[in-house]
Amino acid sequence: MCGIVGYSGPSNSVGPIIEGLSRLEYRGYDSAGICLKINDELQIIKKEGKLDNLKELIQELKPFSHTGIGHTRWATHGGVSTDNAHPHGNDTFAVVHNGIIENAGALKKELMSEGLQFKSQTDSEVFLVLLTKFFKQSGKTLESISKAFQALTGNSAFVIIEKASDKLYCVKRSAPLVVGENSSTREAYVSSDPFALVGFAPKIYFPQDGVICESSVTNSDVQIKFYELDLTLSHRYKTQANAMTVDATTKGPYKHFMLKEIHEQSALVDKLAAYYIKDDGRKILESLKDFKPKGWHLTACGTAWHAGLVIKNFLEANNRQNASIDIASEFRYKNPILNQGEVGLFISQSGETADTLACQELCKDNGIPSYSIVNVEGSTLFRNSDKNFLIHAGVEIGVASTKAFTLQALTGYFMSRAMEGTLDNPELFTEVQLLSHRIGELCDSSDTLKDVAEKVYTKKGFIFTGRGKYFPIALEGALKLKEIAYVHAEGYAAGELKHGPIALIEENMVNIAIVGPELLEKTISNVEEVKARRGIIIIVGPTNHAEIEALADAYIPLNFEGLPNLSPLYVNVALQFLAYHIARLKGTDIDKPRNLAKSVTVE
Ligand code: G6P
Repeated sequence: MCGIVGYSGPSNSVGPIIEGLSRLEYRGYDSAGICLKINDELQIIKKEGKLDNLKELIQELKPFSHTGIGHTRWATHGGVSTDNAHPHGNDTFAVVHNGIIENAGALKKELMSEGLQFKSQTDSEVFLVLLTKFFKQSGKTLESISKAFQALTGNSAFVIIEKASDKLYCVKRSAPLVVGENSSTREAYVSSDPFALVGFAPKIYFPQDGVICESSVTNSDVQIKFYELDLTLSHRYKTQANAMTVDATTKGPYKHFMLKEIHEQSALVDKLAAYYIKDDGRKILESLKDFKPKGWHLTACGTAWHAGLVIKNFLEANNRQNASIDIASEFRYKNPILNQGEVGLFISQSGETADTLACQELCKDNGIPSYSIVNVEGSTLFRNSDKNFLIHAGVEIGVASTKAFTLQALTGYFMSRAMEGTLDNPELFTEVQLLSHRIGELCDSSDTLKDVAEKVYTKKGFIFTGRGKYFPIALEGALKLKEIAYVHAEGYAAGELKHGPIALIEENMVNIAIVGPELLEKTISNVEEVKARRGIIIIVGPTNHAEIEALADAYIPLNFEGLPNLSPLYVNVALQFLAYHIARLKGTDIDKPRNLAKSVTVE
């Protein structure tokens, strides 16, 4: 969740570090900081709040340094303050950290009883103090890093620089960390995400857990060495070319990344269909032909969990297979019943969500194979899965997930069709093409959704309702709105409204009702119940349906024709636009909503 970037090389490290941090800021924005090695001293510059605050300081100071590390923070241990901002340093080392040191409390007590002092309330500083203590005893950096790292429990990634050299060191346990190399410019990088290194480091190394990496830049080359914790040379890392392009890092003509990402969906749907039906993805899908596990255990968090609900519907309704779905943070502690012959399906955009990874581990420990629906190739989830179904969404920067949802659900649909052996039925391709076309139409006419937003953006609260296949969309629509517009919103099964939430209905409450062609009459009755209690009604319903339209204070007509399976994905895009326009009218920080983080690598 925190963003980490490190640099060593002949240029000024400030440029690539700040550019990298800007790209990763969506992961955490409580504070930001850098540590630079200047004139053989470690100089820390840090500031509470968004990265812009740090940038201002840097503009004033104009520092120059060949080696440095930077960090954007999503606070866990220790409040949001400049003191708690990373890097943490002293006159020997500076460190940045992503994750949680679970035994930090006990270690800190012990270190303080030895007379050692702390400047912050963070768990991260415990690593710094331990590292420095071991270094004072041995004078050996690698050995001290290894000892300090081994003393810690919990999942973390650390990057370390030292006063004594221009080397970059890093080590991690179940937290994302990559090392980058540009041999032509003689530059070494470290980051929590290869995205930060696009355009800087063409070659990326993925060290495994408990592997210490030491990068040094000489006058002739870049040397990247990997060590086990006993300091023997390690081969536990993978390398890969960084395939992303610089385009992915900019908003283009759009005001926000979220808007850009909503607009990308139409083309990405086509691309994914081509990949799975005709091109490289076909092989992995075909491995599912006639696959009938005893049952599926789907787990995910947030928006990915909602995509899982859609996929569960496909597996049950279309494949008639048993599928359970759980929120990952619940599944991992509920002592789930896991039987041989069942499969775990883990859905995650980042592939780094701690709770989802823990579920995967649990399934693995119980001999249950792991399948993933994942965006980031090379992520921890990807690496630990037996089969990966990539969603090819490209980088998703808006903290509130949009395109990943559509492509996760679509990938699940392709999997369902592959199991049926109906990938070649022409109607599949036609329906997917139609979905892409209809999403395109929504993008072209999104101003009408702006008009709807104008009618309701000042209202007190929003209840999204839907039945059957649209229930997950009601949940996702509400999540999107609350995430980015900071307004109370909840999703409910339309038929369940009368069992409680209807008590909330009054003239300041809005019901956003999804009325699809399925169970239409029944869903209309639910709308009537709200209308009778003076609630404001927005209906997302079929085109040319005067009767339903007459019920609504605002009507969002959608053409459901030809989308018997994929209409939920289409409706969802309309709700993404609605949330976006309401948030714009409210003036919130749409791409970086308060308190949230893109990739939640802590429990
Ligand atoms: C965070 C993000 C959500 C996302 C969830 C799961 O809470 O803010 O947008 O849906 O994590 O992330 P994942 O990367 O596992 O899909």
